[in-house]
Amino acid sequence: MNKPAHEGGSPVRKTFLTFAPPDIREEEILSVASVLRSKWITRGKKCEEFEKAISAYTGSRHAVVLNSATAGLFLSLKVAGTKEGDEVITTPYTFAASANVIIHTGAKPVFADIEEDTFSISPAEIEKKITKNTRAIMPVHFAGHPVEIDTIDEIAKSNDLIVVEDAAHAIGTEYKGKKIGNGDRISVFSFHAVKNLTTAEGGAVTTNDTEFAGKLKLYSLHGQTRDAYSKLLVGGWKYDIAVPGYKFNMTDIQAAIGIEQLRRLDENREKRAAVAESYSQFFKEYDFVKTPEVKSGVTHGWHLYPVVIDFNRMNIDRDTFIAALGAENIASNVHFIPVHMMSYYVKKYGYKPGDFPNAYRVYLNEVSLPIYPQMTRTDINDVLEALSKLFAFYKKNNSGVDSGLN
Ligand SMILES: Cc1ncc(COP(=O)(O)O)c(C=O)c1O
Repeated sequence: MNKPAHEGGSPVRKTFLTFAPPDIREEEILSVASVLRSKWITRGKKCEEFEKAISAYTGSRHAVVLNSATAGLFLSLKVAGTKEGDEVITTPYTFAASANVIIHTGAKPVFADIEEDTFSISPAEIEKKITKNTRAIMPVHFAGHPVEIDTIDEIAKSNDLIVVEDAAHAIGTEYKGKKIGNGDRISVFSFHAVKNLTTAEGGAVTTNDTEFAGKLKLYSLHGQTRDAYSKLLVGGWKYDIAVPGYKFNMTDIQAAIGIEQLRRLDENREKRAAVAESYSQFFKEYDFVKTPEVKSGVTHGWHLYPVVIDFNRMNIDRDTFIAALGAENIASNVHFIPVHMMSYYVKKYGYKPGDFPNAYRVYLNEVSLPIYPQMTRTDINDVLEALSKLFAFYKKNNSGVDSGLN
């Protein structure tokens, strides 16, 4: 048997296959160069053009570009009136930003456990967590698979709550034939370096609510009644501060990257879907690996390809498995360490890992594999070869103890 590199054998690849490098091409480089030469490099015409392009793509009336999704999530909650004493329901199975921003508004993050099939927040669990203090629900479209948003909208409507979607993973995702971010509710995208569409750092909020979009813009740039660009025009020096705002705006340099990225988004989503298909075909042979489910009526954005492996059936634990894949020169990752397990949340709210049993169980056995449009057939085959090698070497001969994961 071919020995894993982790055990002293030779690795499947000679060079390291990274996890999520950005797809930056000549178009982005030229576009950024042209902004740099234009004499205007912060928020201006390029941000406006990017906002129009995002609105056209998602089908929303408005898009407001910002410096991150974190800023967008915070500002959306704030503009919607979230304040001290309120509660906002979100998932523990997310990046900490989703919950941190709730705390920044003065409200309390209240976690509702996930469904084990899509790792998405469970509508039934949301309902159990609603109190008289609940102000908003923040579902997360984990990995680019949408949550049951219709059900969540109904829960919100009947309890007079707002929905702020954390769509950090979900640009290009569709639910029942409509794009996430189509303006039916407040949606927040991330354009961080590892995302399906990147501006290095950045984000956007989409909505059909004109007043809400206006407030987002106002609060994102100090609360100034004129943006920095129009202040430079003749007679534009005079401005007022209408509210004590923040400094969350995007720059034209970032928008120039985003405009080019958006042009290729659908083509790149197809390429991601093809990588996912190769993985899912491969895993059909392995009954101890649970692959991502795609519900009917859904176009998956394939930001991540998360698998849950029944490590009871293997002579290796998850963390060592990730190290062994790394020794084969294949990057992998874990999405996510549940937020309720982070030390601040443990100390502040007294959470124990098992308080959200589905999130905890998925976390212990989850491995995210590389998935991005630039992956070649050789790259994909290398991942599959490394996985076959590790499964053959570390799989227990009998079926072991059933963890109940499959
Ligand atoms: C689910 C989720 N929400 C929010 C964020 C924050 O995004 P940003 O880095 O653009 O602030 C991330 C970033 O990874 C994320 O994964």
